[in-house]
Amino acid sequence: MADVKKLMVPWLEGCQAYFSEHIEKAWEDRSLSRMMSNEGPMPPQKKVLDQLVEGAKLCHRYPDSLKHIKKKIGELNSGLDPDWVLLGNGSTEGLDMTMRAFLRPGEAIIQSNPCYGIYSKRAALIGADTITIDALDGWEYDLDSIEASISEKVKVVILANPNNPTGNLTPDTVYERLVKHNIIVICDEAYIEYSGLENSKVPIIKKNPNMIISRTLSKAYGLAGMRFGYLLGHPETIAIISRMVMSWNVSTISAFGAYAALLDQDGLREKARMTNEGRDYIESELSKIDGLTVYHTYGNYILIDATPTGATSAEIVNAVMEKDGIILRQMTPFKEKTGLFRITISSREENERCVEAVKAFFSSRS
Ligand SMILES: Cc1ncc(COP(=O)(O)O)c(C=O)c1O
Repeated sequence: MADVKKLMVPWLEGCQAYFSEHIEKAWEDRSLSRMMSNEGPMPPQKKVLDQLVEGAKLCHRYPDSLKHIKKKIGELNSGLDPDWVLLGNGSTEGLDMTMRAFLRPGEAIIQSNPCYGIYSKRAALIGADTITIDALDGWEYDLDSIEASISEKVKVVILANPNNPTGNLTPDTVYERLVKHNIIVICDEAYIEYSGLENSKVPIIKKNPNMIISRTLSKAYGLAGMRFGYLLGHPETIAIISRMVMSWNVSTISAFGAYAALLDQDGLREKARMTNEGRDYIESELSKIDGLTVYHTYGNYILIDATPTGATSAEIVNAVMEKDGIILRQMTPFKEKTGLFRITISSREENERCVEAVKAFFSSRS
């Protein structure tokens, strides 16, 4: 019998299949409030649903290269041509394809801590290392340390705008400095639509073929389960990454839904407006609690530090889950901050219940 384990590429040794306990839990009991994964709270709008059904009716057919969708995305991004756009099964696939196109085993990416957890996981699957640089006190990227860590081995630097979980936007100068190095710079803009595309780094990719922007319909468009994302970059760079694309990576259903969602910019603005309203409400209510620092966000999630209250991240998240059926996100301690947790902004009703639950937790301790 063949020894399958011995046939495996060695760098898979330390890797695990993706599994999210809280997502499993939320699907098992749909009465729970999902305020942990930065999803949109509303089901797809009718215009999108109708097109998802149209796509489903054509599921006996393979999709084409979806040029009409690339054209629409280009139009929405200061008139980029379709060859500046690459489509993916969520933006995670776009990030993954970019890494696989540019990294060899033994090379490395640089990320900032805290950040989206999948970057280093995808790098590890290629056999690449991750160099992690802690953010500065106000959660700004520590650009000096990042630049000092760039060596022959480093091929990719990934920094989000705005960053998850910290919520802050990234100044242009960060990317402008990084693109001067002989590396690929990825700017993850999964949440950019909440603050508006005027905060996007598209003007920088126009001048720098070594920078890629990733986007998704999972967040402000509210279509996480549909799995649709895209990359923006110089046609030469996009053409390289395109070699990695799995044939028909975007399903017929997803293509129909995505096109309808991209056409419905009023629907997108309304969803973003509701989320930003919820953000203002949660930020202002939770700031009233003694000992809590509520970090202002440009995304659909709010990072909170409760360390001075003595409560740990796990205590808060477990209590709110057990007592109120609301799933929040526990965060790994950052330096001396052991009370970090993250709330995904949801519907008005869920936001209000969450605020009450968090207030009740802290008042029961005082
Ligand atoms: C910063 C960031 N990038 C990308 C993603 C993943 O998006 P997608 O659903 O498009 O794969 C997430 C999801 O939480 C995220 O927080």
